[in-house]
Amino acid sequence: MKSLIAGNWKMNGLSAAAGEVQALINKFSGATPEDRDILICPPATLVASFAASYSDEGVMIGGQDCHTNEAGAHTGDISAAMLADAGAAFVIVGHSERRADHGEGDALVKAKAEAALAAGLTPIICVGETKEEREAGKALDVVGSQLDGSLPQTQDEIVIAYEPVWAIGTGLTPTIADIAEVHDFIRGKTRDDIRILYGGSVKPGNAQEILAVKNVNGALVGGASLKAEDFYGIISAAPANV
Ligand code: PGA
Repeated sequence: MKSLIAGNWKMNGLSAAAGEVQALINKFSGATPEDRDILICPPATLVASFAASYSDEGVMIGGQDCHTNEAGAHTGDISAAMLADAGAAFVIVGHSERRADHGEGDALVKAKAEAALAAGLTPIICVGETKEEREAGKALDVVGSQLDGSLPQTQDEIVIAYEPVWAIGTGLTPTIADIAEVHDFIRGKTRDDIRILYGGSVKPGNAQEILAVKNVNGALVGGASLKAEDFYGIISAAPANV
């Protein structure tokens, strides 16, 4: 499998941010590595223009969320079919910020993942424990039950992201042993050819160590994906085959 380095821009980026994507491509002297998959999930407003400009340049584009329905009376929502139509190849579902800010539970996340697959998108399904859950020794229980509830029936083309909630945007990361333990646990519940990303405060300085862990098949990167320099450092640290 190729490593997948995915950037989650969250609610950041106006049209001028296209300059960062171009700067990233320029850092590879115009030839992004073919042995690693690079993905940027910008805000929905930028998906179509980024996909038109960069999908052929080796940077795939994805959405950050989708509705469960293909179309209908759902003001403000975006369907997976719309993201696919705009040129997206992936969509993040069940990010902890959606689970916390919008009360999204496992059943909804599963329905979103299934909608993504039906539209031809690869869903990146996020799971991860809170600080309290880790301290109570429940990290594996929580991740296990999120997986049981959130994974779609057909798992032909999915990606799983392990993102401990307490590591997101905090500069904190689990120990390498803890990352390995959770990723091994997730692998035990999924097929060997499904990529499992680690997410939560991945930076150029820690990427090499984290991405070398067995069953870590790439990274989901928030803050450090917004700057071409940092995202380039993380992509460069990723092993080609995982
Ligand atoms: P972070 O975010 O890299 O800024 O911690 C990761 C994520 O939320 O996907």
